[in-house]
Amino acid sequence: MIKTASQSIEHALALLRQGGLVAIPTETVYGLAADASNPEAVQKIYLAKGRPANNPLIIHLPHQDAMQDWAIEIPREAWQLAKHFWPGPLTLILPKHPSVSMNVTGGQETVALRVPNHPLTLELLHRFEGGLAAPSANRYGRISPTTAEHVKEELGDRLDFILDGGPCLIGIESTIVYLCDSQPIILRQGHISSEALSSVLEKPVLMQTPTTEQTILVPGSSASHYAPTKPLYLFEKEKLLETAQHFAKENRLMGVLCFGKMPQEFQAHFSKVIIASDEPLGYAQTLYTHLRTLDNTPADCLLVEAPPSSEPWLAIRDRLQRASLKVT
Ligand code: TXA
Ligand code: MG
Repeated sequence: MIKTASQSIEHALALLRQGGLVAIPTETVYGLAADASNPEAVQKIYLAKGRPANNPLIIHLPHQDAMQDWAIEIPREAWQLAKHFWPGPLTLILPKHPSVSMNVTGGQETVALRVPNHPLTLELLHRFEGGLAAPSANRYGRISPTTAEHVKEELGDRLDFILDGGPCLIGIESTIVYLCDSQPIILRQGHISSEALSSVLEKPVLMQTPTTEQTILVPGSSASHYAPTKPLYLFEKEKLLETAQHFAKENRLMGVLCFGKMPQEFQAHFSKVIIASDEPLGYAQTLYTHLRTLDNTPADCLLVEAPPSSEPWLAIRDRLQRASLKVT
């Protein structure tokens, strides 16, 4: 029997209160949620994803005031950003409250917090009256899911229920900002840019680089990530065309994501060609769906045309670079 939205929320609530695993929709990507204050439930997340235990989880909250239950020494910047961007695609890293179990924080003294912007999940969180630990609902290292079908494809029966909230509107994971120092630092780029953060805080917000004096641990950001099962090659147009020609000679079958048309002469060597949106919001919204679609064709590799290097495309370029790490 098909459930109404309120029956689905009721069902999700009951499962979460019993320590179950529920996939939740957010504006960025789907999350795999469990009660953040129940260590056994949190453990199930790691098992279902195959994620290393030292990789911390984001705790999802119903509203900004709940920050105080999970973090201490909350700086003024955290309240300013929360007030401006929550609910929304921004995660704040703060010193953890002593009551927060180390198994959610991957053994770190800091905690990641976010209020997501999706009506079903916000209602769920308000009624749950606690925090939901939720990483992206994909197997470790794979492409994040942006629809309920993707979650099913990724995790099958490794979870108890999928709260279907339709396709995610933003399509790439939240911006993560580290606030445990006087200098705020972006640990992961996302829809909210460093300019947007800087203008709210009225001071520069830097990107973490390998030269940042004290490199902050973001365990999930080092490995190859967001990756299709097939090798992904990311090139600027000219190199992309050269590679297509070279692969065609080797009789390889390619799945292609690009901005303009590809030359007719290679068509027999393409399993599918997807023409991407030329504006960053539309591109981000459909990026993971397109990568999945191409990965599911008989292609033996994926060719992706690099998006522009201007500011609005940075988070997208970051995801594509990580997806392509396997082969570079
Ligand atoms: O948009 C999102 O952020 C989605 C939705 C579901 O909210 N969640 C998400 O979670 O992308 P996940 O676990 O796939 O990525 C969270 C990243 C990981 O790289 C993790 O290492 C990092 O955040 N992280 C979590 N807690 C941290 C902490 N205390 N310090 C530094 N990095 C942390
Ligand atoms: Mg993830």
